[in-house]
Amino acid sequence: MKALPIIYGFVTLAALGAAVTIPYAMHERGSAAVPTWQNMVNPGSLSAKHAFLGNNCEACHTPHQGVTADRCTACHANAELLLSRQSTAFHATIGDCRGCHTEHQGAAHRAVVMDHDVLIRRKLRELPASARSVIAALPVEHERIRPEETALDCAACHANQDPHRTLFGASCAKCHATRAWDIPEFRHPSPLSTECAQCHQAPPSHYMEHFRMVSMPVAGVEHADVSQCFLCHKTNAWNDIKGVGWYKHH
Ligand code: HEC
Ligand code: HEC
Ligand code: HEC
Ligand code: HEC
Ligand code: HEC
Ligand code: HEC
Ligand code: HEC
Repeated sequence: MKALPIIYGFVTLAALGAAVTIPYAMHERGSAAVPTWQNMVNPGSLSAKHAFLGNNCEACHTPHQGVTADRCTACHANAELLLSRQSTAFHATIGDCRGCHTEHQGAAHRAVVMDHDVLIRRKLRELPASARSVIAALPVEHERIRPEETALDCAACHANQDPHRTLFGASCAKCHATRAWDIPEFRHPSPLSTECAQCHQAPPSHYMEHFRMVSMPVAGVEHADVSQCFLCHKTNAWNDIKGVGWYKHH
């Protein structure tokens, strides 16, 4: 008759004991100290490049805190390429690796997903509540972009990829959203247009001797101002020169 309450008593005690001992043991000696614990909470296998870490959960997880950047940077401090590229230079100061480097989704899943929302959330958190509501109420220039996206300084990370060579200014969000660069409703003007220079800035070489010495002879055009792109260029590719064909450098 009294067996049930006694069993319950033991179960409760055991659970309480585990609740204290497991975190303590993990804190003191790492998760290897409680082998079965790993399998219980492991949410899935690691990405291929991290598979070698196997059950070494502490490589990335700090007990009681979860994934912390210091674990990641212990192995990834010398990421020169990453820090020297404009769009990824933010790695030097980001201080939190979660969101874009997801894990436990199996070996086929590459642990890199650019998520601008991670940046937006961080940016908004840094601002006072008053500024956040101003941003939320910002008028947006086009329907593809959300007001919060305009809180990001796109050009700080993407100016080097600007195909408009600054002609459209530094406020990329006026026309672009973060999901993709293409703008589905954009239709390129006809190849017969003479307005090319309104939207296209010529490369620096066109404003140097190179233009008279190379560009004009190659195009077979004797009189031209740089702004008259349409005399020499077509709209499919800049190196497909009008009446000449594909121009190969060197
Ligand atoms: C014990 C060392 C170690 C730790 C800790 C570690 N990594 Fe790695 N990581 C590696 C190695 C080694 C590679 C493979 C490098 C290569 O192939 O050039 C790698 C690859 C990567 C890649 C490239 C993935 C791909 O598929 O291209 C990313 C992103 C990355 N790690 C981010 C992280 C983040 C974020 C953390 C922390 C949550 C972390 N790493 C923790 C050693 C580590
Ligand atoms: C806002 C998103 C974001 C955050 C946060 C972030 N990363 Fe990245 N990371 C990226 C993107 C995007 C790339 C891939 C760039 C590319 O296309 O090569 C990358 C690339 C990397 C790579 C190189 C991967 C390779 O292919 O060799 C490493 C290593 C890395 N990140 C580590 C970290 C670490 C460590 C942290 C935390 C300190 C962190 N990242 C935080 C977005 C992020
Ligand atoms: C290569 C680094 C790495 C290793 C090694 C690793 N994890 Fe994780 N783990 C992560 C990242 C990153 C996340 C955040 C989830 C995400 O964004 O996909 C995470 C999330 C988790 C979560 C969800 C709760 C949380 O903190 O977000 C659990 C539980 C977890 N890991 C358990 C484990 C266990 C158990 C092991 C060892 C068997 C382990 N992890 C090894 C990187 C790692
Ligand atoms: C802190 C740096 C940072 C900021 C700020 C930023 N981006 Fe990005 N963005 C990245 C990185 C990193 C990638 C991944 C590709 C790469 O390495 O260039 C990326 C990728 C993209 C892509 C390509 C998406 C795809 O999958 O093809 C678009 C579009 C984009 N960003 C637009 C924007 C716009 C618009 C803004 C401003 C509203 C912005 N970004 C702000 C860092 C940033
Ligand atoms: C006045 C509007 C406008 C502004 C401002 C603008 N763009 Fe664009 N951008 C466009 C249009 C239109 C396209 C063509 C889209 C298409 O073909 O679907 C484009 C295309 C692009 C492409 C794709 C190029 C290709 O060939 O695939 C990139 C990358 C890009 N823009 C980056 C930027 C960056 C970076 C900035 C800010 C420094 C910026 N843009 C500012 C209108 C703009
Ligand atoms: C109303 C603005 C506008 C006008 C006018 C215009 N373009 Fe464009 N053009 C764009 C945008 C935006 C893109 C996509 C972004 C980029 O690649 O520069 C583009 C792309 C191109 C590309 C493709 C570049 C590549 O590598 O994929 C070529 C070539 C081009 N334009 C040539 C021309 C020529 C030649 C003229 C004049 C006959 C012209 N454009 C007139 C806006 C314009
Ligand atoms: C007199 C003819 C002529 C005119 C006018 C002209 N170009 Fe060119 N352009 C060329 C030729 C030829 C080449 C390929 C050889 C070279 O680099 O000079 C070229 C190359 C280019 C390239 C490719 C450069 C590279 O590094 O791959 C771009 C982009 C370009 N022109 C844009 C423009 C734009 C934009 C205008 C107008 C604002 C313009 N061009 C006006 C003849 C011309």
